[in-house]
Amino acid sequence: MSNSKPKGMDGGLTNYGDPEFASFLRRSMARSMGVSRELLDKPVVGIAVTPSEFNNCHRLVPELAEAVARGVLAAGALPRSFPTISLGEVFLNPTSMVYRNLMSMDTEEMILGQPMDAVVLIGGCDKTVPAQLMGAASADRPAIQVVTGPMSTGRHRGQRLGACTDCRSFWAKYRAGSVDSDEIETVEGRLAVTAGTCAVMGTASTMASITEALGMSLPGTAAIPAVHSDRIVSAEMSGKAAVALIHNPIRPSDIITTGSVENAFRLLMALGGSTNAIVHLTAIALRRGIRISNERLNAISDETPVLVDLKPVGEGYMEDFHVAGGVQAVLRELKPLLNLDCIGVDGLTMGERLDAPDGWVDRAVIRPFGDPVSPVGGLIALTGSLAPEGAIFKRAAATPSLFETEGRAVVFEDLADLSARIDDPELDVAPHDVLVLKNAGPHGAGMPEAGYLPIPKKLAQAGVKDMVRISDARMSGTAFGSIVLHVSPEAAVGGPLAAIRNGDRIRLSVESKRIDLLVDEAEIKRRLDTFAPPPMPQRGYKALYRRSVLQAPDGCDFDFLTANSSERPT
Ligand code: FES
Repeated sequence: MSNSKPKGMDGGLTNYGDPEFASFLRRSMARSMGVSRELLDKPVVGIAVTPSEFNNCHRLVPELAEAVARGVLAAGALPRSFPTISLGEVFLNPTSMVYRNLMSMDTEEMILGQPMDAVVLIGGCDKTVPAQLMGAASADRPAIQVVTGPMSTGRHRGQRLGACTDCRSFWAKYRAGSVDSDEIETVEGRLAVTAGTCAVMGTASTMASITEALGMSLPGTAAIPAVHSDRIVSAEMSGKAAVALIHNPIRPSDIITTGSVENAFRLLMALGGSTNAIVHLTAIALRRGIRISNERLNAISDETPVLVDLKPVGEGYMEDFHVAGGVQAVLRELKPLLNLDCIGVDGLTMGERLDAPDGWVDRAVIRPFGDPVSPVGGLIALTGSLAPEGAIFKRAAATPSLFETEGRAVVFEDLADLSARIDDPELDVAPHDVLVLKNAGPHGAGMPEAGYLPIPKKLAQAGVKDMVRISDARMSGTAFGSIVLHVSPEAAVGGPLAAIRNGDRIRLSVESKRIDLLVDEAEIKRRLDTFAPPPMPQRGYKALYRRSVLQAPDGCDFDFLTANSSERPT
């Protein structure tokens, strides 16, 4: 932990060649905003705010920012909120993933470029929390994450509904013809009925939970519903805690360590959380030079049972998780497996956090270690001739009878080919085939959540519910099925995925953690001789993205932002 005096408004003065003039001018301009001289002499807490009318999940950010500011003021510092870009998952083309690194750069530079002694980051929707944590990890100024919290559920004909696992199951029923167009229109208005992030253990809720396990947010805060008064109180407490961090500086580099990253991965396994969290947590960790290998990831997964019974893996919603005991109750179950000396933003170690008296725990939602939902963790890494650098499989949300599958490849060259042919009645596909999507990785298409390939309509109508599906894409954290994702290297950089042809045999073995293309190595090489990458964008952010984006095992970060490529994280 480092010690430095707060600089307040005099931090990082504008370069005029006359620091005293720069300070005088800054204070003068600050006073134009109605801030008293007395407050201008206080330490400063920045509040990164991300409201946007293209981001439903952040609708209550202004209220949270007000509460954070109240906490900062009460603790004797000056709150200053500032905007960064906001990423609303379903409002961005081609996919929010393309813009995560842009938001992380915006966050990092605004933390460092503006005068603040600490920062509170308010985010929630899928990519926003990873982006803010990546930025904060690189900026390495004392930082606390506040999340917007999950939505509450809606009701439809007596059934609870929550985005977005139920969005997918209703859409699948509509495609199969068991739900008609009137009902699907009614359901559209009942899936997302409050402010907040998706109501299940999708990517946003997984990232909120991981942030708590990492120590970057206050304990007990990840799962509080967006509309609950405790959510506002937690924001106020986070503002107070940020001021404490100024006087007793604990930086992201003190908090994000190999031990805390492993704790976060362990929680991810116990939650049966989103596959996307592996990419994001990897990117956050690499900002501090920390890498968890596929072998270590699998060891953590094999040792850690799934303890939480929430959709998409199980039955409940995030509102149930909160009242059941939330992240701290899960961590208490995992305590013998955790690194207990990791410090958090509250100045307490993981061990001290977990020494807090046990609250009541709803065992229908959070199981005891000895009676898990599943004896092994939710996610595993696969390797093999189809994915030499790795792929991810969410075994907790897959069909066990498909865990050991050998099947014939039905190949779609890209997203356009998939949407043109998946429902073609002439498509040559059978229930035990393996659906393969190419060119949907970071370089190919920005790595959209397209890995949840729809079951071809003619098979869905015949009652087929799941098939092995393989791609270099990601999948929504709210989705489910026997789906191999993040195949690396991706097709668009000439990985073996690019070589697959219709009719090739593919073998998936969850037991051996392998994914293999059963084609001779020499033949794969011969097919790749004619490989040509997609055209390179020539200008703007898209050009920067394509020049710099790394593969999934490197968190899809930019090559110039990871710890080894920058002078900042030392
Ligand atoms: Fe924002 Fe699902 S759309 S978390």
